[in-house]
Amino acid sequence: VFTQPAELQAQLSEVEALLEHWVERQNASARLQDSMRYSLLSGGKRFRPMLALASALLIDAERTHTQSDLKPSAEFSKAAQAVACSVECIHAYSLIHDDLPAMDDDDLRRGQPTNHIRFDEATAILAGDALQTLGFQILSDLPALFPIGDLVGELAQASGAAGMVAGQMNDLLAEGQTQELALTELEAIHRNKTGALIRASVRMGAIVGGASDDKLEALTSYAEALGLAFQIQDDVLDVISDSETLGKTQGADIAKDKSTYVSVLGLDTAADLARDMSLQAKNALAIFDASADYMRSLADYVVQRRH
Ligand code: IPE
Ligand code: IPE
Ligand code: MG
Ligand code: MG
Ligand code: MG
Repeated sequence: VFTQPAELQAQLSEVEALLEHWVERQNASARLQDSMRYSLLSGGKRFRPMLALASALLIDAERTHTQSDLKPSAEFSKAAQAVACSVECIHAYSLIHDDLPAMDDDDLRRGQPTNHIRFDEATAILAGDALQTLGFQILSDLPALFPIGDLVGELAQASGAAGMVAGQMNDLLAEGQTQELALTELEAIHRNKTGALIRASVRMGAIVGGASDDKLEALTSYAEALGLAFQIQDDVLDVISDSETLGKTQGADIAKDKSTYVSVLGLDTAADLARDMSLQAKNALAIFDASADYMRSLADYVVQRRH
């Protein structure tokens, strides 16, 4: 769907190495470390790191044209990579907990047994806990010339009781109800459980890049539409894909009697809405020139992806 700029590809492989490095450095018990590694380094799409890096690179590219007091470029790249690692740690933790028997009770993730199946529930819970704190530890390690407090605030807000955790809570409360959720309620769930971290990924990349207010605002609108499109497509894929392609159990939402965009709107309308949101995301990038083309292609990717 898209070609990754060479620079971004290089940064992404740095992120893989850094994630590995951070888990190694934890000095945890072997079992805990294995469990963390199992879910952090098991071939996710790395969509949130891509967003964080792309957003940082976009702002940096624009700044390079207009400003002379540049941050040292090596330091800047390292900071963008750290932000990418931090959001991926939170994401990995959220998936481990999402799959637990007390939540979605899934046994397949990325084509492998879920963490609590491969290890056990207690280990999975603790690996999730440890990955969550690791996400914040990585930010705390940034050089002081970056706005660490702002970045920590963004990530905490997005992942906590006003963001991802809130969405997960309401997702679970709505399960097995005789009545489908109203669309506005479902939208709020999706914006929290998935949208918030996607929004934080884009914003944290932009903040590290030193984005102006208007650029941060444009990127935030982009990310909000993109995050909603991402989760609507996740709901669509649960219905139209197969477990092999998805790497997770197809039909899991139906089996759990979840309210999803497909159960509320029907398949075709849900897919249409995902495409609308993807378009809306691209429209939000109007103030950027061709340097934002990669971010535009990520918006296409979100609704064209098959897993
Ligand atoms: C799955 O996220 C969970 C949702 C928020 C929909 P991804 O589809 O990004 O999962 P991985 O990391 O690529 O496996
Ligand atoms: C999960 O949404 C969102 C998270 C915060 C992890 P889903 O429950 O739909 O994600 P999948 O389909 O299991 O990946
Ligand atoms: Mg879930
Ligand atoms: Mg789930
Ligand atoms: Mg899903």
